Amino acid sequence: MTIIEREQDVTVAALAAMERTSDPRLREIMVALVRHLHGFIRDVRLTEAELRDAAAILVELGKLSSDTHNEVVLMAGSLGVSSLVCLLNNGDQGNTDTDQSLLGPFWRLNSPRVANGGCIVRSATPGPALFVTARVVDKAGRPIAGAEVDVWHASPVGLYENQDSEQADMDLRGKFETDAEGRFSFRSVMMVGYPIPAEGVVGRLLIAQNRHPYRPAHLHALIFKPGYKVLISQVYDPADPNIDSDAQFGVTRTLLGNFVRHREPHPTARDVDAPWYSLDHVYRMEAGEAVLPRPPIK
Ligand SMILES: [Fe+2]
Repeated sequence: MTIIEREQDVTVAALAAMERTSDPRLREIMVALVRHLHGFIRDVRLTEAELRDAAAILVELGKLSSDTHNEVVLMAGSLGVSSLVCLLNNGDQGNTDTDQSLLGPFWRLNSPRVANGGCIVRSATPGPALFVTARVVDKAGRPIAGAEVDVWHASPVGLYENQDSEQADMDLRGKFETDAEGRFSFRSVMMVGYPIPAEGVVGRLLIAQNRHPYRPAHLHALIFKPGYKVLISQVYDPADPNIDSDAQFGVTRTLLGNFVRHREPHPTARDVDAPWYSLDHVYRMEAGEAVLPRPPIK
């Protein structure tokens, strides 16, 4: 070990300790972490009071987290970290476009099965009708048949069913299976953007930075088919006023959806009033291992 003479020696000693990590990947991570952390502290000349504040913030992030809320994940999103990790690990390791996006906190396992063309509105949910037609394909554009597709989205007032006592259980959620051409389709109501929970540490950060807490309107999907990496995607409405200022940095050009607002009567559904919306979308899956994420809520 080293007896420290000057401030630079601390970094040398800490890096040497990190180098003794047995597991090679953990060693790589810890060496880089200490190198960047020490560099960051030198860059901003972190004060003793600020280090105490930082520790208090980390403790508070943990205390605010529970089975139904994860302030740490919210902070990772609010710093752009979650989006960066997603983009680096998909699309040929960040070299090409990817349909992968963030899972978010509201995916639930075991959404009710719905036949193609069916409706996922399970209780009176006032708002303009939305008709979604979609295809699931591989990187070469070939259809993927028999894929399981979970969809979920917020209501026309910006609440997921689990946040809203007005909505039935599993409202605006459904599980579809793609047909021989890789297609699935359903009817719902048009979602709107919504604010992320801003009562905690993340909320204070947003205020300090003059940032609004909104995510633009989006449709979530999780697509499962053995032989393919599970596709976790979000498709965004380009007409949303916050499309270029997502509080979670999730919007990429690839994920801008072909949402269309229609003023004319719907061609087949007689009960639909104008305006109504349509979305036609193609989801592209990459080959890989099909591993489901852990559901963030029950
Ligand atoms: Fe969402």
